[in-house]
Amino acid sequence: MIKAGFVQFNPVLGDQETNIKKIKSLMPLAKDADLIVLPELANSGYNFVSKDHAFENAEEIANSRFIDFLIDEARKYNLHIVAGFNERENNNLYNSSALVSPEGFLGKYRKIHLFLNEKEIFQKGNVGLPVFDIGFCTIGILICFDWIFPEVWRILAMKGADIICHPSNLVLPYAQQAVPVHGMINRTFNITANRYGTERDVTFSGKSIISDPFGKTMVTAAPDKDAVKIIEMDIKQARNKMITPQNHAFDDRIVEEYSYLIS
Ligand code: ACM
Repeated sequence: MIKAGFVQFNPVLGDQETNIKKIKSLMPLAKDADLIVLPELANSGYNFVSKDHAFENAEEIANSRFIDFLIDEARKYNLHIVAGFNERENNNLYNSSALVSPEGFLGKYRKIHLFLNEKEIFQKGNVGLPVFDIGFCTIGILICFDWIFPEVWRILAMKGADIICHPSNLVLPYAQQAVPVHGMINRTFNITANRYGTERDVTFSGKSIISDPFGKTMVTAAPDKDAVKIIEMDIKQARNKMITPQNHAFDDRIVEEYSYLIS
């Protein structure tokens, strides 16, 4: 059994130090976890007034106070952390998530499906859909609006992800309903770490959720409060892809009928 969960909070737009302080104050509640997921853009907030504003609140991974802070927390509590952050690389911005462990920075995912005016701020992700073997399990990462594209959940599951970590700033009110369904179809544990609160004209929906490989909701959070929830997971459940004794979630796909998808 492993222990994994989320931290839900309300990041302050353009105030990384306050966001670090808030995460630091909640992390003791996650001390028993092996893996913890934080929301999308947890360092910077979401609803920038302009691209310049987003730039002012972004960091390069190699020189990031936020990533260094996450690594310190991973060391202090001996756990892995997946956290959304506003990443700058030269003149480009990415809506990214970092994976860190007590050993340091392990990798990143850059969001590929950009929502509304994110398209005017961030580049589309260019690191594909990686999975990370972190010893006690394999994880994949999606970010927020990626949720509405079933293809990406499937790809991560087929690459061996036991847990799909989903840092989010969800806006569409029905998004959380989809998360357990993707887990049921692909037989993965899913952790959506959402934020709550309002930034200018955008309100985020909280209700972070963890679901199991059978589509059962294991735990949720309130729509409008800080929350830290940790759940025990039997990773073997995500590695058994048999739906019935004669049906396998992936091997039973009839791919020759699916070519329309890539045309
Ligand atoms: C979103 O993708 N942050 C709605």
